[in-house]
Amino acid sequence: MVYRSWMRNQGFGPQVFDGRPVIGIATTWSELAPCNAHLHRVAEAVKRGVWQEGGFPLEFPTLATGETLMRPTAMLYRNLLAMEAEELIRANPLDGVVLLSGCDKTTPGLLMGAASVDLPAIMVTGGPMLNGKYRGQDVGSGTHVWMFEADLKAGRMTQEECYVAEGCMARSNGHCMTMGTASTMACMAEALGMQLPGSATWPAADSRRMEIAQQAGQRIVGLVREELRPSQIMGRPAFENAVRANAAIGGSTNAIIHLLAIAGRLGVPLTLDDFDELARAVPTLVDLMPSGRYLMEDFCYAGGLPVVLRELADGGLLHAGQITVTGRGVGANVAGAQCWNRDVIRALDEPLQPPGSGTAVLHGNLCPGGAVIKQSAASPELMKHRGRALVFDSPEEYHAVSDDPDLDVTADDILVIRGAGPRGYPGMPEVSNVPLPAKLLKADVTDMVRICDGRMSGTGFGTVVLHVSPEAAVGGPLALVRTGDIIELDVPRRVLSLEVPGDELERRRAAWSPPAEPASSGYAWLYTQHVLQAERGADFDFLLGSRGHAVPRDSH
Ligand code: FES
Repeated sequence: MVYRSWMRNQGFGPQVFDGRPVIGIATTWSELAPCNAHLHRVAEAVKRGVWQEGGFPLEFPTLATGETLMRPTAMLYRNLLAMEAEELIRANPLDGVVLLSGCDKTTPGLLMGAASVDLPAIMVTGGPMLNGKYRGQDVGSGTHVWMFEADLKAGRMTQEECYVAEGCMARSNGHCMTMGTASTMACMAEALGMQLPGSATWPAADSRRMEIAQQAGQRIVGLVREELRPSQIMGRPAFENAVRANAAIGGSTNAIIHLLAIAGRLGVPLTLDDFDELARAVPTLVDLMPSGRYLMEDFCYAGGLPVVLRELADGGLLHAGQITVTGRGVGANVAGAQCWNRDVIRALDEPLQPPGSGTAVLHGNLCPGGAVIKQSAASPELMKHRGRALVFDSPEEYHAVSDDPDLDVTADDILVIRGAGPRGYPGMPEVSNVPLPAKLLKADVTDMVRICDGRMSGTGFGTVVLHVSPEAAVGGPLALVRTGDIIELDVPRRVLSLEVPGDELERRRAAWSPPAEPASSGYAWLYTQHVLQAERGADFDFLLGSRGHAVPRDSH
């Protein structure tokens, strides 16, 4: 009676308490997260499917980590979303859960939480925005923001033109429609087998987004009846599929951190080096911004991720038998996938970029824990480069002088931005692709090497070395670099090294003291005390491994 009575205040009749599966719908809807602002409509479609299949759907809110408004960075709160989702799924009497996400951190955050509970789960991402249209051209969210920002600084665009362009970029509901982190993570959820085939790419404004949400609502009831759990779907082969799919789609570097974190929740052994080794045989097939020309709408109409996965399967680059939320292997899911536009999705034997041109993992005395560079977004002529370091202790320190016409900088220098790691900032913001100094932009320089312990937006581009680990704030070698030092970047050899003798580095280390703690209380303090470095997914050390769905003590 306790269970039933209060729930009946919502108008549910007694017949829904007949033992049918109770399906939670974890939504990250919020008007503060514009990429997820339509998810309440997606939830209605999911509910239709759940009812249709004999389940009892109940929608509940989880933390909406919107990328654009949250300060200091939405990444600071990904782990909080994962904790909240985990505890809500476990604490409530649910048999299965549908995960509704959209913006960058909401997809990995919900997957991490669901992995920790390991109840049957299925994901529905909210879909990308329609292609941006500005002056007769397709413009991509994020990617063109950085371009327009550079144009504005260089005097090639007026502020009024910027106002018009920004509206043209965001003309429907949905998440970024470039192959940024949101689109990448939607594809990763599909490649991992956690969302239905084709689900990653339907635009938010397309009626088929609602159709597939309804199908997911139907399917979660089947997953509960079959007791098919995330741990069975997301095994090591599923992560290998996702890593290779990420290389094939030219996906975001942020997927590396998120996949490592999800794997950590499941106890699946996955390392940073796996991303380089597994991707070396995989060419880039999808021609999407920021590395290419097209946008998610084009990818969808060309056949979407199933075509990419089928290409990988045909080339022996997919664990085709790995089970997915359909109850079938991923290979069976995509066996009939056809490509309708070979400009957008290339065939494996006629790729956009050759195998091994995706994200590279670097090692060397500047990054003992590793670092990454997205080769497809970088300038080929900078892949091997030696240059003088120009060092800034924070992104803010750089921004304070970046417009100075007298800044002592040349295009051959290497900008070192530190203090942007998981613990130091805190939250590892997407600041690594800082705009070039105005002095160089005005001289029509379009790229230079930048090195940072932070992240880069998945929509960003440039020759940017990211995720340098250990970060400067915990005393990584990045903390010891001084302006004027010579740094060598050699991507073909996977090397990032600081050409300073060891004894000099030891002297600098002895004189180094850690920066002031960025927080002394509250959630930010908890974060700084427990966050792991980038190569371990920047999850909390106390959240590794799955805790299952049994509540510690059931008083009812
Ligand atoms: Fe939300 Fe890009 S800002 S997906």
